[in-house]
Amino acid sequence: MFLLGTAAAGMLEAQETRAAAQADAGRRVYPLNRRWLFGGKTAPGVAAADFNDAAWQPVTLPHSNVRLPWHSFDERSFQYVSAYRRHFRALAEWKAKRVFLDFAGAMTATTVTVNGHRFDEYKGGYTPFRFEIGPYLRYGADNTIAVEVDSTERADIPPFGDNIDYLTFGGIYRGVELRVVPETFIDNVYAKPVAALTAERSVVVRCYLEGPIAGPATLTAELRDGEKVLKTASATATAQAAYREIRLESLPEIELWNLQRPKLYTVVVRLKTAAGADDEYRTRIGFREARYTPDGFTLNGERVKLMGLNRHQTFPYVGGAMPERVQRRDAWILRRELHANIVRTSHYPQSPAFLDACDELGLLVLEEIPGWQHIGDKAWQDVAVRNVGEMIRRDWNHPSIVLWGVRINESLDNHDFYTRTNALAHSLDDARQTGGIRYLYDTELLEDVMTMNDFGFPLRPPNHAQYMNTEFAGHTFSTKRNDNVERVAEHVARHARVHNQLASDNRYAGGTGWCAFDYNTHFNFGSGDHICYHGVSDIFRIPKPAAYFYASQCSPEEEVVLQAGFFLSQGDRSGAGGVHEVPILSNCDHLKVYWCGELRQELDPDRKTYAHLKHPPFTMDLGELPLRPWGDLKIEGYIGGKLRKTLTLSGSGVDADFKVLADDAELLGDGRDATRVVILLTDEFGNLRPFATAAIALSLTGPGEIVGENPLVPAGGAAAIWVRAKETSGVVNLTATHPFLGSRSITIRVGAAAAETV
Ligand code: GAL
Repeated sequence: MFLLGTAAAGMLEAQETRAAAQADAGRRVYPLNRRWLFGGKTAPGVAAADFNDAAWQPVTLPHSNVRLPWHSFDERSFQYVSAYRRHFRALAEWKAKRVFLDFAGAMTATTVTVNGHRFDEYKGGYTPFRFEIGPYLRYGADNTIAVEVDSTERADIPPFGDNIDYLTFGGIYRGVELRVVPETFIDNVYAKPVAALTAERSVVVRCYLEGPIAGPATLTAELRDGEKVLKTASATATAQAAYREIRLESLPEIELWNLQRPKLYTVVVRLKTAAGADDEYRTRIGFREARYTPDGFTLNGERVKLMGLNRHQTFPYVGGAMPERVQRRDAWILRRELHANIVRTSHYPQSPAFLDACDELGLLVLEEIPGWQHIGDKAWQDVAVRNVGEMIRRDWNHPSIVLWGVRINESLDNHDFYTRTNALAHSLDDARQTGGIRYLYDTELLEDVMTMNDFGFPLRPPNHAQYMNTEFAGHTFSTKRNDNVERVAEHVARHARVHNQLASDNRYAGGTGWCAFDYNTHFNFGSGDHICYHGVSDIFRIPKPAAYFYASQCSPEEEVVLQAGFFLSQGDRSGAGGVHEVPILSNCDHLKVYWCGELRQELDPDRKTYAHLKHPPFTMDLGELPLRPWGDLKIEGYIGGKLRKTLTLSGSGVDADFKVLADDAELLGDGRDATRVVILLTDEFGNLRPFATAAIALSLTGPGEIVGENPLVPAGGAAAIWVRAKETSGVVNLTATHPFLGSRSITIRVGAAAAETV
């Protein structure tokens, strides 16, 4: 019944760090994620170079300033200013260079002090920031970085200022790097494919340089397929300007980036100045044409009905502080398990590792700036406008991103503010359209695409030529996996009905349902336990039946899907008469249903209710099954008369077995790499038992750590912990013991990781 792959299936190679991609010429990038010291709440003096931090706790980034239960915790526990310190040594060869400290993200306002020099506070929890630390370095002596991270909900920083329906958590929750570059260097590159579908296809390479250019400088751009150089072009830069443009033209045949074959190329830019600066910058790109049109969304000239979900970036226990592998896994779950073709990064820019995986998997992305309903004063709006620039400059090379969300989610009109956000987005990126997510129908549209949260049913007709439904279902029908049969069935139906209507009319580009995964929220939202159970999967990313609706819309060539949208029971009633209509989610074209070994029903897809879906759910009458004899329910799925898949649901009512499933069989021993381990209570056929509650005791040996609750109590029959690698190699052995069903063990190999050198 489960969509979870085996450990090996779909294993994504973790990227060590993005630094590795910036191959060295004149630049060097040093990951700075290990050997941090964490002091908890900040105190006067912690930033002083000579502060005694000997008693502080050694930690590795990404780091959450507090470990939490997966629900029912007090959100004030992470809302404080925490202090970190890191010692490092400066290498003599940096003396003639420029040295930057790059933060990928810390929540929510960060003050950095290097060797006693305090930099201006950076405001913002979702965007990267940097400090030029070269002038403050000490050679031949200890250097210290002190970081104070304010994780309170500061009204001067988006998304704060009023209520928001999610939690931001705290700490340095993404990575840190030290970057050493020549005096004149390449700060950023936007390599924009143009006319991808024609023989005139080319790449416009905009090179943003920093530093003085005295005398002639040469910029060279290469388009590579793997290591093979396909095209080279050069330009001379003689004066400082915002950017220099190089065009890679007359390209040979290239392969387009699409949903099935998301082909990626690399652009390498090299700068050489007369003064001896030598710098190199690499980025990945994909050739595709993505447009919202009056006739729907088109990718490479073909209409694609957008069918996807919203994703919050937070995880149980640690909020956003999960490493690249775990971030990437979410993209894999969305694309390969749920077969979504688009994700909205609600409501902020998410991890670069997640976006890299979207590029590799062919998962389209709508990315938006931080914010939720509230618009603050002018200074607040300035931060939001700055966020537009930071988001676009960070992510413009991702072929997966097809729309910039430049309005605060569900905010009211604000002409001047949104004129600014749109103008900035268009000036930085003339290749992508903008959207601005709203819930009021009659609002001013300054964006290119009307992106509407329409939670009603039937849906409203499109009120603009380019139209997408960015949220539906969600709070209007919060559902847990162990809710009763009717509610779970209705949850499935609500997602299916909306997508059916979206599919009925080409003017709808499609939609992203609310939402992919349950998420932690404030006390005044959700189910009273700090969770919004709005996901089609739970907070551990384990599917609820509504997830199978999404999965079942893929072509059987990709995967034959046959899943029950219900739990087999006859007494879970809301009145007399028993449970009747329940959904079966499948891309088969015919089903045979056997009860106690006897063929009782033959079903075709429910085309009456879902005329426009590729693979309408099947509706089966559970009430038709007799109470005696009672037994197992077997469903056979046929395509073109051929049996393709069988599903057997036990009638025994017994928690017969349990599984321990790791997403990955191997981790890197860098102290930060991690993988999810799901514990799943099942019947004797391997189907999840949503009411199973036995506490599972976990024990771990080897170079790893359990991130999560122990013992672990299944929620809706399943739950997960994450195993985080320590900084040594070896074998992690994880044993899970059920009070009645015995123990199961898994092993995870931890490979050696290169040490951090400074
Ligand atoms: C929307 C909002 C989301 C989430 C959702 C719940 O209004 O944009 O962030 O709160 O409701 O259904």
